[in-house]
Amino acid sequence: MLVILKRDREGLNREAARIIASAVRRKPSLTLGLATGATTLGVYAELVRMHREDGLDFSRVITFNLDEYFGIPPDHPQSFHHFMHENFFRHVNVKPANIHIPDGTVRENYEEYCASYEASIRAAGGVELQILGIGRNGHIGFNEPASSLGSRTRLKALSQETLDDNRRFFAPGEEMPRCAITVGIGTILEARRIVLLAAGPSKAKAVARAIEGPVTASVTASALQLHPDVTCIVNEDAAAELAQKDYCRRVLNLTAQFTPNRLW
Ligand code: GLP
Repeated sequence: MLVILKRDREGLNREAARIIASAVRRKPSLTLGLATGATTLGVYAELVRMHREDGLDFSRVITFNLDEYFGIPPDHPQSFHHFMHENFFRHVNVKPANIHIPDGTVRENYEEYCASYEASIRAAGGVELQILGIGRNGHIGFNEPASSLGSRTRLKALSQETLDDNRRFFAPGEEMPRCAITVGIGTILEARRIVLLAAGPSKAKAVARAIEGPVTASVTASALQLHPDVTCIVNEDAAAELAQKDYCRRVLNLTAQFTPNRLW
């Protein structure tokens, strides 16, 4: 795994947006896997800026989001549909027909629905660049601890930690969804390239376990160690518990020298 250490969130946002923009410029019809969460907000803002000021064109890009809360409509202020629309899609030119976000309102035939989401990823040729955040418990998407490392898109019960972390976004007294539809670890690992973003001290333990710990379903982000092309962009706070920071810096310098295409 290539680990890029950034001093602050601004550096992380710029680096992640640079990688996405350069992938879109190289292949305008890129299939892009997208994530939600506070960590991605600044990245979307930077991409919106690049669209407005530098003409970054998303008109042929196809997007697949990782997950959606189960049981809430797309216009609910906490839905990931709403998050994506407000923070990204309504400001850029991705064609509505090219946007895919799991539907949290399916009422029956869940397995069929989830299989159809997988099928649409396959029909698009697979995800070429997957952006990920990480939960405090090391989850990616909503693949909570003990998820199968071969899992596919499915209905997933949220862990207590995730419920506690995300409850504050819901109105007082409002019932928070207990489940989500999420792509699986197996699905994520099929992306050609993966970029994991982590910022803030609350992620330090999860980051260290994901990057330096054993591969374990207890920290589902650790499954990324099995993938041949993962770049982790981590700010100082989130990198605090990494033991190999100096080595990461050395690897990055040598990568820039010998295989700079890994940094595009
Ligand atoms: C949610 C999402 C994850 C995301 C995580 C971290 O749980 N399902 O995909 O990585 O939040 O979010 P934040 O960046 O807000 O810490």
